[in-house]
Amino acid sequence: MKNIVGENIARYRKDMGLTQEEIATKLNITCQAVSKWEKGHSSPDISLLPSLASIFSVSIDKIMGYSHNFDSRSYYEDHYNKEEYFWGVTPSTMCLKVLELLPPTKPLKLLDIGCGEGKDAVFFARCGYSVSAFDISNAGIEKTKRLADKANVYVDVFKANIWDFRLEQKFDILFSSGVLHYIKPELKEEIFLNYKEYTQTNGLNAMHCLVDKPFIREIPGKKSHSQHWKSGQLLSLYDDWYIEGCEEYVFDCHSGGVSHKHAGNRVFARKISHLE
Ligand SMILES: C[S@@+](CC[C@H](N)C(=O)[O-])C[C@H]1O[C@@H](n2cnc3c(N)ncnc32)[C@H](O)[C@@H]1O
Repeated sequence: MKNIVGENIARYRKDMGLTQEEIATKLNITCQAVSKWEKGHSSPDISLLPSLASIFSVSIDKIMGYSHNFDSRSYYEDHYNKEEYFWGVTPSTMCLKVLELLPPTKPLKLLDIGCGEGKDAVFFARCGYSVSAFDISNAGIEKTKRLADKANVYVDVFKANIWDFRLEQKFDILFSSGVLHYIKPELKEEIFLNYKEYTQTNGLNAMHCLVDKPFIREIPGKKSHSQHWKSGQLLSLYDDWYIEGCEEYVFDCHSGGVSHKHAGNRVFARKISHLE
């Protein structure tokens, strides 16, 4: 069973730069008790939850995993609730590069992280990959299922928040397009360590994020709901993998009804254990 409470305690503790010992002192308990919670070997007594919530300045619900800082209703939910496909049904160009680097000449498992309405996940399934996909949007998940049905393929699509979701089984390919900028900065390293660990040897990570560039203006008055990456930051997370490709580019975007530009970064990295 997933240790949600323990993982939340560990995450909030690290976010605040506190040690297990400091938490233990504040709660008048042993350091071992905190360690056991975080490892999932035991759970905090119910009487300690208000104090824990107060130390982390979050609600008890958040510690229990009932909600997160993020409004789990996707920013895109309203768009996805319409009949037409907001992002279209044409796969992104990144998909072609994945096909070129790791074609499905044998059974390969692929995970689409933040699949939206499923255009890329369904494309991969049509190509013969065994595809799983998740998104935070219910409407996106439904549309992904519909698109897969229409194409007569199966995609194992489920709801998850990229902040909480951690892999527990290995994939040959991890793919993500247009989503990584929703990750809280302090979670990036931990999430990518998990992604890398759960990629098969010789497997591929094909990742795209939005990057900040001083020459790209923000849209005046637009409330940002994302956390852009620094140039080179995504690549640096793969410094121990073989880099098959990395490029930055500027593209036009019309989401939200206002034309604007973004800078994007695509990284294709392969996990290699040892060269013979
Ligand atoms: C720009 S869209 C990209 C969708 C898809 N990858 C594509 O290229 O068509 C961003 C997607 O990220 C999803 N998303 C936003 N925050 C998320 C989160 N915390 N966890 C999982 N998915 C999230 C949104 O619901 C949306 O579908």
